[in-house]
Amino acid sequence: MNILVIKSSVFGDNGNSSALVNTQVEALKAQHSDATVVVRDLSTDPIPHLDGERVGAFFTPADQRSDDQQAVDAFSMVLIDELKAADHIVLGLPMYNFGIPSQLKSWIDHVARAGVTFRYTESGPQGLLDSKPVTVLAARGGIYAGTDNDTVTPYIKLFFGFIGMTDVNFVYAEGLNMGDDVKKKALEEAKAAVS
Ligand SMILES: Cc1cc2nc3c(=O)[nH]c(=O)nc-3n(C[C@H](O)[C@H](O)[C@H](O)COP(=O)(O)O)c2cc1C
Repeated sequence: MNILVIKSSVFGDNGNSSALVNTQVEALKAQHSDATVVVRDLSTDPIPHLDGERVGAFFTPADQRSDDQQAVDAFSMVLIDELKAADHIVLGLPMYNFGIPSQLKSWIDHVARAGVTFRYTESGPQGLLDSKPVTVLAARGGIYAGTDNDTVTPYIKLFFGFIGMTDVNFVYAEGLNMGDDVKKKALEEAKAAVS
């Protein structure tokens, strides 16, 4: 089983979401002795923000791309191929300023490709990737799950569903900035939910 790990905490492995990701990966490895793990840490290996040149590269037909445009396309395809090769995706999802980390948004902007990971049909958008489990470890300073203020969870679910992956599950560690006791309990409960 191939596990694709995506970490997006700006604190790298010191992030709460990253710690939960590592717990989740250990739990999967304990269940699958053949597990292989590919780690994409978006803080140590950042992805450029989307700009006009990069979108232009995506939209240019393959046989007309310049060398620079080919490099942009090839980089995006590496990320997409990692998704295709995975049997299970484990995503660390901090909340920063009510949204997802900009590093993760850049990853999404390089993975959402018309004609590659989704297409529009007469009946609406269609995801082009095979569905596989996506486990999301969501870490927040406050408490939002299940409320209208949780803009992050529906967005992530929408994105993965859009490219074909509808089996998205969330584990929450909330209230991490609401005092030591709340934080300890939240992390313990999240770790228990993972295992
Ligand atoms: C720059 C920044 C912005 C944050 N914004 C929010 C926020 O909008 N809502 C919230 O509940 N917590 C917020 N937090 C707290 C984080 O969600 C919390 O520290 C969580 O552990 C982040 O995940 P990480 O430790 O994996 O990076 C913020 C933290 C930082 C560093």
